[in-house]
Amino acid sequence: MGALRELKKRFSEALRGFVDEPETYLNQLRRSGAPQFGDYQANLAMPLAKQLRKSPQEVARTLLDRVKLDDLCQSVNVAGPGFINLRLHDRWLAEELAHAVVDPRLGVPQVAEPRTCVVDYSAPNIAKPMHVGHIRSTVIGDCLCRMLRFVGHRVISDNHIGDWGTQFGMLIYGWRHFADPIAYQRDPLAELGRIYRHVNQLAEQDPQVAQKVLEETARLHAGDPENVALWREFVPRCLAELDALYRRLGVQFDYTLGESFYHDRLPDLVDELLQRGIARESEGAICIFLDGFEAPMIIRKKDGAFLYATTDLATLVYRVNTWHPDCILYVVDHRQSLHFRQLFTAANLLGYKALQLEHVSFGTILGEDGRPFRTRAGDTVALEDLLEEAVRRAREVVDANDDAKPDGPELSEVDRARVAEVVGIGALKYADLSQNRTSDYVFSFDKMLAMTGNTGTYMQYAYARVRSIFAKAGLNADSLRQEGAAILLTTPEERALALELTRFDEAIELALTDWRPNQLTAYLFDLANKYSAFYENCPVLKAESPALRQSRLLLCDLTARTIQKGLELLGIGVVEKM
Ligand code: ARG
Repeated sequence: MGALRELKKRFSEALRGFVDEPETYLNQLRRSGAPQFGDYQANLAMPLAKQLRKSPQEVARTLLDRVKLDDLCQSVNVAGPGFINLRLHDRWLAEELAHAVVDPRLGVPQVAEPRTCVVDYSAPNIAKPMHVGHIRSTVIGDCLCRMLRFVGHRVISDNHIGDWGTQFGMLIYGWRHFADPIAYQRDPLAELGRIYRHVNQLAEQDPQVAQKVLEETARLHAGDPENVALWREFVPRCLAELDALYRRLGVQFDYTLGESFYHDRLPDLVDELLQRGIARESEGAICIFLDGFEAPMIIRKKDGAFLYATTDLATLVYRVNTWHPDCILYVVDHRQSLHFRQLFTAANLLGYKALQLEHVSFGTILGEDGRPFRTRAGDTVALEDLLEEAVRRAREVVDANDDAKPDGPELSEVDRARVAEVVGIGALKYADLSQNRTSDYVFSFDKMLAMTGNTGTYMQYAYARVRSIFAKAGLNADSLRQEGAAILLTTPEERALALELTRFDEAIELALTDWRPNQLTAYLFDLANKYSAFYENCPVLKAESPALRQSRLLLCDLTARTIQKGLELLGIGVVEKM
């Protein structure tokens, strides 16, 4: 189960009957910031001392008298103003790993109380090609789904695509005025893309065109048969393009219920909100006035049109009634934070008080010039082009690496192409997931494909390197696991690696605490570094004894599986050779 979880359990038992609300102190237990003093530290004596009006040292000592740690910790001591330093028993670590070795879940337990989580992510406005701005939501959302599922929650992923907005007004207007039917027949998406860009540009320069676009959109919303027919013609084309991208990214959704799905529900929703006194009329518009906000949330404009907020309210009601979630995550960029704060406040008025609503927001991807990432010509970068470029550059890395192998290249042409795809897409995803999600970050192909440092390429390389030991020795890792054996921790490097291996569970929990995949990438990077130190200092195949060799092979195997599983939770693949 992981040391931190076990320590929390022990301390919570010790705190019971000692203080009120013991749970509030447990997050003072954490991984040690100074490994020379211990593996974990408990900083709860200070806050407890305040509550109990005693000295922290005294509280720490009383606490240590009450907590049962002898089977878990080798040494426990109180330092400075009452920090408790805890060092785990080697025996405990070894036993923990012996379990993890034969456990398909690698020692990560399932949650005791599974929750139902809806995850709203990706959600591009279709009709224009997906661009670089869509990476973050897609990749972060997918990773959160994977982690939540792995620990045992029920996850519903829902792609709330924008399939009903002005972008369709543009296509419809453009279709009527500038369509090239032959080009459309040849390549519908390219032609739609051209029309979209053309009209978008015109509308920016010419208010009359912008007006016409709005009128076409309004006609679509009013059910005008011709506009609806055109919409029906265009939507599947746009979806096909999206699907191809998602397939390449390895991202899947349980549902794709876009804005259009909710259109028919909006009038009734507004009526209901009026009836319940949650919304009221103001200057011809229907508004929800929310405490703590300057402006009300408008849900129907004076001209009768509904808004983004109206659709999101209808979506929320639908999700609650359909899936009964405990939690809904909205993985959407930080510019929409006001919208979500309003939406969540409105949800409270609707009576959804127990529902956890989270805006998992994120920053902008910047170019090397520190401005939002764009092409040289100043256009947004199409996601497809970005993937192509990542894979093309990954291919260069793979070629160079394979050509430089001391015994000559190992990979066929087909292998190289397959590896480049996994490495290129992996690098792109990892570069995003390893960022603090709330910050902006600078996009750089060179950095993300570097073979050293905290990159996806380095992690994939670390995996392949571990696996090559088994290939070299002609060993089957599966049968090794079944044989089992004692884990022997004879050197500091073995111990450090072992400790890191027991922390996988902790890393996932940390990543899920406030939805930060970079907690998982940081963990994997630490693990790979601990492995490197181990590998440099501890001969594996040439270990001094058969028992030590077996133990070290098991450490290698568990490292490889943990990296593989960790990358899988990030949505990233591995290769056996690269
Ligand atoms: N389509 C929206 C956009 O591109 C994002 C939708 C996010 N999800 C939501 N429920 N509002 O800005």
